[in-house]
Amino acid sequence: MPSLSLTLKHPARLAVDVLVVAVASSSSGITLLDDDALPKELRSQVTSAARALGLTGEADAVLRMPTSGAVSAPVLALVGVGEQVAPLSHEVLRRAAGAATRQLTGVGSIGLALPAHDTAEVAAVAEGALLGAYAFTRYREAKDGAAPAERIELITARARDNTAKRAVERAAVVAAAVHGVRDLVNTAPIDLFPAAFADAARAATRGTKVKVTVLDEKALVAGGYGGLVAVGQGSSRPPRLVKVVWSPARPSRSVALVGKGITFDSGGLSIKPAKGMEAMKSDMAGAAAVLHTVLAAAALELPVKVTGWLCLAENMPSGTAQRPSDVITQRGGTTVEVLNTDAEGRLVLADGLVAACEEKPDTVVDIATLTGAQLVALGARVSAVMGTDEVRAAVVAAADTAGEQFWPMPLPSELRASLKSQVADLANIGERFGGMLVAGLFLREFVGSTPWAHLDIAGPAFNEGSAHGYTPVGGTGVGVRTLLALLES
Ligand code: BES
Ligand code: MN
Ligand code: ZN
Repeated sequence: MPSLSLTLKHPARLAVDVLVVAVASSSSGITLLDDDALPKELRSQVTSAARALGLTGEADAVLRMPTSGAVSAPVLALVGVGEQVAPLSHEVLRRAAGAATRQLTGVGSIGLALPAHDTAEVAAVAEGALLGAYAFTRYREAKDGAAPAERIELITARARDNTAKRAVERAAVVAAAVHGVRDLVNTAPIDLFPAAFADAARAATRGTKVKVTVLDEKALVAGGYGGLVAVGQGSSRPPRLVKVVWSPARPSRSVALVGKGITFDSGGLSIKPAKGMEAMKSDMAGAAAVLHTVLAAAALELPVKVTGWLCLAENMPSGTAQRPSDVITQRGGTTVEVLNTDAEGRLVLADGLVAACEEKPDTVVDIATLTGAQLVALGARVSAVMGTDEVRAAVVAAADTAGEQFWPMPLPSELRASLKSQVADLANIGERFGGMLVAGLFLREFVGSTPWAHLDIAGPAFNEGSAHGYTPVGGTGVGVRTLLALLES
């Protein structure tokens, strides 16, 4: 991740490779947002060049032009913010900063002359800039010209304020967490299997105050974690339940976070078609978000006890795999008839939720790439949140401040009947229509009276389209910022 520092310097005198300013679409073509950022002659050069090249100022557009000595930076980059008038919303600022750092690769340093007049704007620009400066390099170095900048300077009159400095520190923690999730999601499933994920969790917590406990397959059988055992039994690489705890000295509250960690979802014997399997290395995005939220909570020393539960298994077909019609016993004793082995997420989460609630947290939140129905209902960029009224509303509010899109969804009681089994307490599938809500109703059976929310991030966790704003292709890291904002609230 690049370094990011605040500076009081005038944009014209900032020694960086590229100086970034924002432009909005307007009736006359484009408008420069902070127009005192540039010397007059460069300003008119910008407007005529933009007109000649047809730049509209649309969001995500980045145009580079030479400054020919008019300012210290040799290159000026215009980043579009769309049809906006000042003041820009924090999310528009995040996206503009991220669109710039994401696309201005192959340069050493970037100067941001974006609107950053108060601490909240500084925070938004810093966060967006760091979120955009991401490359996944596990299997291939970022080639010439593709590496993100190493140094970012953010111009603001608040550069000396301690609150602004703290906002930058927080942005760095948040971005590191989001990058950590993206790295885990992008890692090939041959490398990231349950035990490897548990090792990665141990490694990530080394040198922090986060405590890790790992239950292996024997401990899972002994502990009655029938969902994790059943889903994991088709794979040669056995399941794990990882508990990660941030426990501050005098916690104001305690929150449990439960993440779905299917390191690859083939569907099991109810096997997916080839197309449906392509993105299924991302089926552990919930667990990755939980791990990095706990790490970030510790790094920020939030006064909340946070217990993360990573429900890790690989869902594979084989001679030892669970069969459709098998009956399993979840932790806590509920029996489930597994009618479709591709509805595996709810089975591992049920064990995690029961274990989490045994410790009587004030609130429990689960996060999962749970259903294709989420994509049908809300598309690839809007996540769903279900649960008890207050927690659900708190998640929506947290997402709003964090700049993530989470939409409240109901848990209609009439759909519960479709989860009845002929032989067990529950079936693992029900009515097809409203499948996301049915999955939520299944999970609700395992939280008792604990205030709870369920986050379905099936689409938003993995970007199969093109990059936009601060969001890259592949793992997005969605959920971390909302969960952190929830803990902070
Ligand atoms: N991991 C999938 C859900 C998913 C689908 C995530 C597409 C991301 C993109 C989940 O385990 C699954 O297979 N769900 C089934 C449930 C069904 C069998 C009731 C689904 O949604 O089709
Ligand atoms: Mn599945
Ligand atoms: Zn799955």
